[in-house]
Amino acid sequence: MCGIVGYTGARRAVEVLLEGLENLEYRGYDSAGISLATQEGIYTQKAKGRLANLRQRLSTGVPESSCGIGHTRWATHGEPSDINSHPHCSGQVSLVHNGIVENYMELRRQLMDKGHVFLSQTDTETIVQYLDLYYQQYKDPIQAIRQTLALIRGTYALAILFADRPGEIYAVRKDSPLIVGVGNGENLVASDIPAILPYTRDYILLEEGDVAKLTGDTVEIYDPDGKLDLPTILHADWDIGAAQKGGYDHFMRKEIDEQPRALESTLSPRIVNGMVDFSIDHIDDAFLSDFRSVQIVACGTAMHAGHIGRHLIEKLARIPVSVEVASEYRYCDPILEKEDLVIIVSQSGETADTLAALRLAKARGARTLAIVNVVGSSIAREAEKVIYTHAGPEIAVASTKAFSVQVGVFYLLAIRLAQLAGQLDAKTCKDMVQALLRIPNDVQQTLQIAADCADAASAIKDASSAFYVGRGLDHCLTMEGSLKLKEISYIHSEAYAAGELKHGTISLITDGVPVIAIATQDALLEKTISNIREVKARGGYVLVICKANTVVPEDAADRVLRLPSSVTQDLFAPLPAIVPMQLLAYYAAVQLGCDVDKPRNLAKSVTVE
Ligand code: M6R
Repeated sequence: MCGIVGYTGARRAVEVLLEGLENLEYRGYDSAGISLATQEGIYTQKAKGRLANLRQRLSTGVPESSCGIGHTRWATHGEPSDINSHPHCSGQVSLVHNGIVENYMELRRQLMDKGHVFLSQTDTETIVQYLDLYYQQYKDPIQAIRQTLALIRGTYALAILFADRPGEIYAVRKDSPLIVGVGNGENLVASDIPAILPYTRDYILLEEGDVAKLTGDTVEIYDPDGKLDLPTILHADWDIGAAQKGGYDHFMRKEIDEQPRALESTLSPRIVNGMVDFSIDHIDDAFLSDFRSVQIVACGTAMHAGHIGRHLIEKLARIPVSVEVASEYRYCDPILEKEDLVIIVSQSGETADTLAALRLAKARGARTLAIVNVVGSSIAREAEKVIYTHAGPEIAVASTKAFSVQVGVFYLLAIRLAQLAGQLDAKTCKDMVQALLRIPNDVQQTLQIAADCADAASAIKDASSAFYVGRGLDHCLTMEGSLKLKEISYIHSEAYAAGELKHGTISLITDGVPVIAIATQDALLEKTISNIREVKARGGYVLVICKANTVVPEDAADRVLRLPSSVTQDLFAPLPAIVPMQLLAYYAAVQLGCDVDKPRNLAKSVTVE
């Protein structure tokens, strides 16, 4: 949800900024822009659309500068246009913003009453205009920043240039991510680690309320009392390759292939002597015992992982679990006490709705546990306990490997909770752990059917609508499979419990409408087969995804995609089974010529409500 980058040092800033924006483009791609600090003042250039449009505009020449800020936008206030693109400038100030000024109408009115004129429809322009006013008054950037932010209700990460201070960048954040990259003779600010990786792996997580002042040689962090802070310097262990395509056409395809390794890295550190053990996460048995119920709160793909988590925990530990949409959670006055465990799931750790849900759960005194991929993200920092998934950077907007590792953590949790609740004995837990450790290999084997998936995709790609059906754990998978297809190929798609279709939706099944049936659960197989027969009888095109030895009557399906024979236990089938669904969506989108990694209207990290 908008990407910010800033650079000050000895290099040509324009190149660093463009490279940084390229690495952040997954956060939004409605427009892009940069401001460069020069001795003659601030030079700004911006363009609607992809970064390529900005590059084109800059190709006619830019002033020499070794300090600047850049932005890639996911539009919230004001349509994607040149004028609404960031940076926004006023007088001596130019800034880039990620977040939302909730009271911008009020601020805009106040400024207009003072005679100010607005060029854009953005909320951000109120910040830059107030900041310029206060800068004229105080001549002190930090004081001006503090006075301005005191007026603002909402969320922000800001990188700011002042025309009379070339070489200096100021940065501040609230509820939107921002890091400071600490280099050698050069320093950066960025929304996310990939933007700083070509220059440094050392970074500071900017605390809320702190203001950072960067020059090429120094980074100073001022706390709200104006005192200099001594921040902790962290080290990103991602290599640059992890954030690059590495020979693949798309990040999504690469990330699908990375799933076995991501699973392995997430699972194995939590298995000690053949048993689940969360010592590395500093989670002891007391934390995982004696609660009344579990609420899993998340958005999108992370929520789908949560649905699988619910099945696993309820089945193995016999503890009641509900799965809540984070954007609804705090508005529905959830029944939540300190005896409850709230599990927050988020790849980015920055999703605004999920973060707000976490804060509500904490305010109600519930135990909070986050499952997060991005180290040091807001959710990871604010939750009482955190289990990091080790997917590495996920760049494609469509989540794939992050989903798999989230599900992997739910297996671990379900087994441990079941053992602590006395529902599973040690021997059964050990057997389950062994089965779990085989999953990365099962997923690896499943990747071998990529060509079949590509072929199967060609049969559904021209449909205007598709349906995914399944029962039990398979139903959870249908939600994720369906989301993957619709978000990147733009084929309208819906997921249903297989038995539910006939309660209304089956009226939409006509000749050739694709229905993708997931049938990995033997106990439910006959029922699912009956449901797909109902679809076939109405002319639907049925594609079944099932285990290697599942008997699917010839007249019940048009095509069958089979998991490898190593996948035998139904409880552990979801992770291999999601792979053909990811590949199906991927190849359908590629065949349709869609922009797979950057689907329209979307952004990777949704830091606004
Ligand atoms: O970063 P998060 O896991 O909190 O993001 C939540 C959703 O926005 C995300 O899972 C989204 O649904 C996927 N990118 C879709 O593929």
